[in-house]
Amino acid sequence: MTWAPPSSGQVLIRVRTAGAGFPDLMMTSGQFPLLGAPPFGLGEEAAGEVVAAAPGSRFSPGDQVTGITGFLEGWGGYAEYAYIRENSAIRIPRGMTDEEAGGFPIGFRTAYAGLVERAPVHSGQTLLILGAAGSSGAAALQLGKALGATVIAVAGSQEKLEFCAGLGADHVLNHRTDDLTARIAEITGGRGVDLIYDPVGGDTAATAVKSLARNGRIAMIGLASGAPVKIDSMDMLLRNYSAVGVLAVPNDDPDAETAVWDRLADLAQKGAITTPVGQVYGFDEVPRMIGEQSAPAAGKSVVRVSS
Ligand SMILES: NC(=O)c1ccc[n+]([C@@H]2O[C@H](COP(=O)([O-])OP(=O)(O)OC[C@H]3O[C@@H](n4cnc5c(N)ncnc54)[C@H](OP(=O)(O)O)[C@@H]3O)[C@@H](O)[C@H]2O)c1
Repeated sequence: MTWAPPSSGQVLIRVRTAGAGFPDLMMTSGQFPLLGAPPFGLGEEAAGEVVAAAPGSRFSPGDQVTGITGFLEGWGGYAEYAYIRENSAIRIPRGMTDEEAGGFPIGFRTAYAGLVERAPVHSGQTLLILGAAGSSGAAALQLGKALGATVIAVAGSQEKLEFCAGLGADHVLNHRTDDLTARIAEITGGRGVDLIYDPVGGDTAATAVKSLARNGRIAMIGLASGAPVKIDSMDMLLRNYSAVGVLAVPNDDPDAETAVWDRLADLAQKGAITTPVGQVYGFDEVPRMIGEQSAPAAGKSVVRVSS
């Protein structure tokens, strides 16, 4: 096997596992906003052993790492070898399985961007998480709990509500059968929630916005429902709330970015956050995995690329 040596800021790994999910469906259907025309390689995140590192890298061949791949440049993680962004990677913490490692980076870096950097949630505040059994939501649920928030998790089936409760949600609501507005009012004593973490968008998010407390915020993460949330700016003005866009991109300052990943690794090492592994697929099952993302099971999907 030959490969081009990693450029500055990259490491090359031999992939064992790669995180998978809804973005793969968006990419293959031409709806992923950050990617141009094909060809490109799928797989936003991957874990494995470093085989080559650029000069001056903080990683060396033989290190076990997980991180975000160069998928935006066409180099995804569903491959024997993948380029990883050095400033979006960590050594795999002790005790983390391959499946947990492969599915760790995107969900938790996004949750950190939402709940720490862009729309900070403080201990004692109430955090409503949409799509809470999905890979973004389940990561945010755990980080929110680790930050001391009271978490209300919203999902679409009894099995998913139990999954969220198992991850530590304080309250669980079914968006298919519960009156979200009435239930949130009941839980919060009529006050509403301080922050909505929204990877779903569409009507569900628009309904949730009605339950924002004064000075509340909605962190807009994605559009699993098919459309981003529509926000009425006059309503924002009259009810004193904010809408915050969140895209998990590295800090300009590489030391600040390394500190983010160190903090996430530390939380994982302490068991405060754990990749909520759901379905594990073989490498030859990637097409089936993509087909199943329109009605995803609970948790983070992972592809086992090699042993
Ligand atoms: N901003 C960023 O940096 C960033 C990073 C990662 C992902 N994202 C985006 O976040 C979105 C979600 O990704 P993901 O990986 O978390 O997807 P996922 O694992 O498929 O989870 C999405 C969840 O949304 C729920 N859902 C779908 N339609 C819904 C609706 N109409 N109402 C309520 N819930 C609904 C589904 O569960 P139920 O069965 O419970 O309905 C599902 O569990 C995508 O748009 C992705 O591109 C953004």
